[in-house]
Amino acid sequence: MAVVWNKHLVLGLVLGFCLVFSLGELERFVESPKADGSLAFLVVGDWGRRGNYNQTEVARQMGIIGEKLDINFVVSTGDNFYEDGLTGVDDPAFKESFVNIYTHSGLQKQWYNVLGNHDYRGNVEAQLSPILKKVDSRWLCLRSFVVNAEIVELFFVDTTPFVDEYFREPKAYDWSGVLPRKPYLSNLLKDVDLALKESRAKWKIVIGHHPIKSAGEHGSTAELIAQLLPIIQANNVDLYINGHDHCLERIETSDSPIQFLTSGGGSKSWRGDVSWPNPKELKFYYDGQGFMTVQVTEAEIDVVFYDIEGRVLHQWSTAKPLFSII
Ligand SMILES: *[C@@H]1O[C@H](CO)[C@@H](O)[C@H](O)[C@H]1NC(C)=O
Repeated sequence: MAVVWNKHLVLGLVLGFCLVFSLGELERFVESPKADGSLAFLVVGDWGRRGNYNQTEVARQMGIIGEKLDINFVVSTGDNFYEDGLTGVDDPAFKESFVNIYTHSGLQKQWYNVLGNHDYRGNVEAQLSPILKKVDSRWLCLRSFVVNAEIVELFFVDTTPFVDEYFREPKAYDWSGVLPRKPYLSNLLKDVDLALKESRAKWKIVIGHHPIKSAGEHGSTAELIAQLLPIIQANNVDLYINGHDHCLERIETSDSPIQFLTSGGGSKSWRGDVSWPNPKELKFYYDGQGFMTVQVTEAEIDVVFYDIEGRVLHQWSTAKPLFSII
């Protein structure tokens, strides 16, 4: 049968083309700042161990501090369920490691979760499933997405598929939804770049499970230095926040204004490994459990790291002029 080129066929092709190209765009969520225009959130990573390894203690302090700061939401940097993610939407680990642990009234807020490498060792679709939202309305996990909160925009990036090492053991990971890997990664980088370019927010924060720069046991991620760092550097990102290394840390290098923050102290830690070539750049490193808070106003960002007793371990702030001519 000969193809008859008519306006319907052309229209169909154009619509199909648009659909394919719009599929790549990152899903967006909107958060409203508080009445005074400010915003606060907690960051915890590497946590789901049924309360063990001080997970419960970290959760309690998150609740106390969360209430005090009147947080807008909680961010999880991934490795939500150990050792191998969730087996399905009815895996009891969801309740045992999340619902029954983060019970404090100060934590009854939206949670924005990314996936870590341990989550990819289970049934990934389970964590992404809207069914979990019915079990606990706070839960939201997507591979990559954007949270727009007016003064600040948060860009969540699915970093696990970037790491070559995991593809040497393909059967251990649930790569459905990621393969073929090459276009998955190139579309993701393109989407992140576009979302960052379109952002009109005063502050930009990128969040992923794997560190770009870290002095911890796993250390820096070469694949992210090569592929993600150039994009976030070109788009004036203020903070890059990750987990993966089970510690709390802040790295600041002289060649970039970006702060590299690790909040991976949600449960098991104390690995004891720390190495960074230039001690001047490693501004803070704590090898134990804890979490981080981020407070944002139009003029300022304040980051604070806490231990399992709610003690302040480290504090860092930065400011931008209130009015700037772009
Ligand atoms: C729990 O936290 C305390 C205080 O930081 C620490 O001494 C202890 O080793 C931690 N326990 C575990 C199992 O990590």
